[in-house]
Amino acid sequence: MRTLQAGYFPATPPEWFYAVMTLHGLGMVGVWFVAGLAAMSFLLTKYVRPSLTVSWIALGMTAVGVLLLVAATLVGKLGVGWYFLYPLPFFSEGTWPDWATAALFIALGVLGVAWTLWSGDVLRAIAGRYRLREALGWHYLSGRSDPEVPPIIIIATVSCIGVLAGLVAAVVILLLIGWEVLGGGAANDALLIKNLTFYFGHMLVNITMYFGVALVYEIMPAYTGRPWKTNTLVVLSWNTVLALVMFAYLHHLYMDFAQPRWLQVLGQLSSYLVSVPAAVVTIFSTLVLTYRSQTRWSLAPTLLYLGVMGWAIGGVAAMIDSTISVNQLFHNTLWVPAHFHTYYLMGVVLMTLGAVYHLAVTLTAEVENLKRSRIMAAHLVVGGYGLMLSFYLAGADSVPRRFAAYPAELTSGPMLAGISLVFILVLFGGLGLYLWDTGRLCARALRA
Ligand code: HEM
Repeated sequence: MRTLQAGYFPATPPEWFYAVMTLHGLGMVGVWFVAGLAAMSFLLTKYVRPSLTVSWIALGMTAVGVLLLVAATLVGKLGVGWYFLYPLPFFSEGTWPDWATAALFIALGVLGVAWTLWSGDVLRAIAGRYRLREALGWHYLSGRSDPEVPPIIIIATVSCIGVLAGLVAAVVILLLIGWEVLGGGAANDALLIKNLTFYFGHMLVNITMYFGVALVYEIMPAYTGRPWKTNTLVVLSWNTVLALVMFAYLHHLYMDFAQPRWLQVLGQLSSYLVSVPAAVVTIFSTLVLTYRSQTRWSLAPTLLYLGVMGWAIGGVAAMIDSTISVNQLFHNTLWVPAHFHTYYLMGVVLMTLGAVYHLAVTLTAEVENLKRSRIMAAHLVVGGYGLMLSFYLAGADSVPRRFAAYPAELTSGPMLAGISLVFILVLFGGLGLYLWDTGRLCARALRA
């Protein structure tokens, strides 16, 4: 996508860009959601017992959903973007066939059912040991710490309740659109569908980050030698997140002037407030956990630490954009991919890679080659932040997002896209080394 935006291969039809962008967006959001929930479920087995059967069903259904999405985008050239704006999927003007639109909705249905089952099962497993008020840590607020509840249980409970709430919105969307298309009902209200779509998308993305943070809470103490226990602050912050994360999505609709004004104000307030408890408490605790500790900075703690910092940097960029007066300038510019790539790629992805490396090293008891690990981490940081900077600078210069090729006036668009290619190669170098090293360890662990 950056190659085309840089102006190379101008003969490529733009529909290819939009089809690839749709697959990339849906694929990435899905992959890191699934990876985060899988890693968190695995770590949860220390305390509770999620069902292996449900995990396998979720994995199988996810594979079916992915195949449908690949077919819809790469074969059908469906190019609606990862959050499709209704009624765009039904107005292809011949660019993609009807079956591709059907495949998109069937895929979303299959994935929605799979992930509902999976998150519901995690909640069931937690309920097998803790009552809901205990799993949310409410007894800490009245000064009791019995039963002791590890932070990963509280974060998993908050996150899985959030997932279920988001997926309910997805079901409502599918029912409304299904009724219109198959049942011959009247056309749906586009603003209602947009609210539901962003509610679902925003929840899914936010919760994925919380999965990543749960991994940090559980694994980081093994390296710093300091325990990370639940206390009143942790309970208060994650319960506040549960209450506020439902409303932050409203910042995606600032430019929808038919939206009631009080909802816009609520969007700005909750966007500001939701970031304080989870992010500030986690970032501050990570610093306290590592400051003057005897941490041996091998790859796993380095990636977990960098992930928390990426979350912080992307979070600040997100808060800037969720300010209504700024959003009037930054809406749908490359600032948007800039901020979400920062807390995704440099946040949750690094956290998840760190967690997987931790498991691979633990299972094989391999002595880590620290020099190789540092080279890997340096590539990820330099390549990743170079790519991020190309997005931020373009966004600040009003280059719009989701453009296959930029008009001649936007000279900084192709220039920054071209420079970013160098950083993407550096990033891929680090990722390639990581995949080779971790793959080798995982293969050995599986054989054993
Ligand atoms: C090597 C790493 C990556 C590169 C080079 C990359 C590149 C891009 C580019 C060029 C776009 C289109 C920007 C625009 O003009 O609007 C994009 C969109 C997007 N990317 Fe990435 N990306 C990377 C990693 C990720 C990761 C790890 C995620 C995690 C979720 C992600 C999620 C998304 C999403 C959700 C979109 C929006 C798609 C849409 O607008 O429908 N990307 N990415």
